[in-house]
Amino acid sequence: MDFEKTVARQALIEGGKIVVEVGGHSILLCRLQGEVLAVQNQCTHAGSRLEAGLVAEGSIRCPLHGVRFDLRSGKCLNVRLGCAPLRCFATRETGDYIEVEVAERQACTG
Ligand code: FES
Repeated sequence: MDFEKTVARQALIEGGKIVVEVGGHSILLCRLQGEVLAVQNQCTHAGSRLEAGLVAEGSIRCPLHGVRFDLRSGKCLNVRLGCAPLRCFATRETGDYIEVEVAERQACTG
């Protein structure tokens, strides 16, 4: 597994989010209950960037049309729309930095 150093750990506070570029991907990092979660920063509904979305109860709501995605699994939580899941990336905190795995961790199937 290849991990790439991104931002300082203290740059991502509890409940916060930040965008990083890793391996040619725009990735949204969120810290929930101390854990750093990483998903693609692009909604699978119509391509809006997710960084301005509201994070609540372990999910992010797309700012364009309101589709919600689970931040741990990437799963679309709006059953009627049934959008493809977000791509998820592995993370780790090493020293003072957050690292993101360059390879995709999973493509959730729901
Ligand atoms: S682009 Fe995200 S919900 Fe439509």
